[in-house]
Amino acid sequence: MFAAANSEAADAPASFSRDLDFTVRDFERVRALIYRRAGIVMADNKREMVYSRLAKRLRLHGMTRFGDYLAHLDARPDSDEWEAFTNALTTNLTAFFREAHHFPVLAEEIKRRGPSIKIWCAGASTGEEPYSLAMTVQEALGSAASQVKILATDIDTEALNTARQGIYPLEAVEKLGEARCRRFFQRGSGARAGKARVRPELASMIDFRTLNLVTDKWSLNAPFDIIFCRNVMIYFDKETQSAILRRFASQMKPDGLLFAGHSENFSFLNQTFRLRGQTIYTLAANAVAGAARGGRSA
Ligand SMILES: C[S@@+](CC[C@H](N)C(=O)[O-])C[C@H]1O[C@@H](n2cnc3c(N)ncnc32)[C@H](O)[C@@H]1O
Repeated sequence: MFAAANSEAADAPASFSRDLDFTVRDFERVRALIYRRAGIVMADNKREMVYSRLAKRLRLHGMTRFGDYLAHLDARPDSDEWEAFTNALTTNLTAFFREAHHFPVLAEEIKRRGPSIKIWCAGASTGEEPYSLAMTVQEALGSAASQVKILATDIDTEALNTARQGIYPLEAVEKLGEARCRRFFQRGSGARAGKARVRPELASMIDFRTLNLVTDKWSLNAPFDIIFCRNVMIYFDKETQSAILRRFASQMKPDGLLFAGHSENFSFLNQTFRLRGQTIYTLAANAVAGAARGGRSA
């Protein structure tokens, strides 16, 4: 999809290029690689972003030319540098109770379905979203909440490390209000002043795992009642979205729910999903029949 430009202009340094050598051809190669590896489509206007995110990797390797860095990657298909490359190019923006309108709906579903509920948070980033799900489960079910396990996955191993640590700036946590702060977090002191850590009861509800939605084989404990996959599909093209959405359908209970991000609209896949609330989808009749037959074709 991103054919490497092969005109003379492609070898010219991009106009914003700073101390490291970054040509238009290098940018095209980066785009092709991240698309193949993670399904992420980098728009034309992301050159500067790509430069600043990968510059750190080049400097770490003592390199001054993107071409050398990309040749280094090409020559080592099994190198750990691929993980660092992918981590650098993902966007991890998130927040506790982001798109807050979803959480009252989720709370009602949890109460209705009870503690045997299965939840998957796909694209969990640095953990704020799965912890928000865990808090909602605790508030809805009380002591029975400890029976619930939330699967939280992401391609970005560094974001997942942050998520596993569960330590966040105090200002972010204080926005949740006094009651949630006290119930779910421990305030840090000494070297941890200004930070708060999620309490072990909350942390133990979540299983964090690396998973690439695009290329990995999914061996999950399906079927799920609830899948949260918010603000992840915006980075993919329609073809990739369709493939992943069909796989999601195969991992859901017949009455399962898929929560999407505010700018994600999956109505184009109306044979698989139908809108049930604000960016909340349920399986369409055809897909329900498949799920009821136990079609887990991921
Ligand atoms: C903008 S964050 C969204 C975080 C959270 N869901 C939210 O809405 O606040 C997008 C996340 O998707 C992850 N991601 C991107 N491509 C992925 C892929 N192919 N497989 C799994 N996760 C991916 C990124 O690493 C990033 O953490």
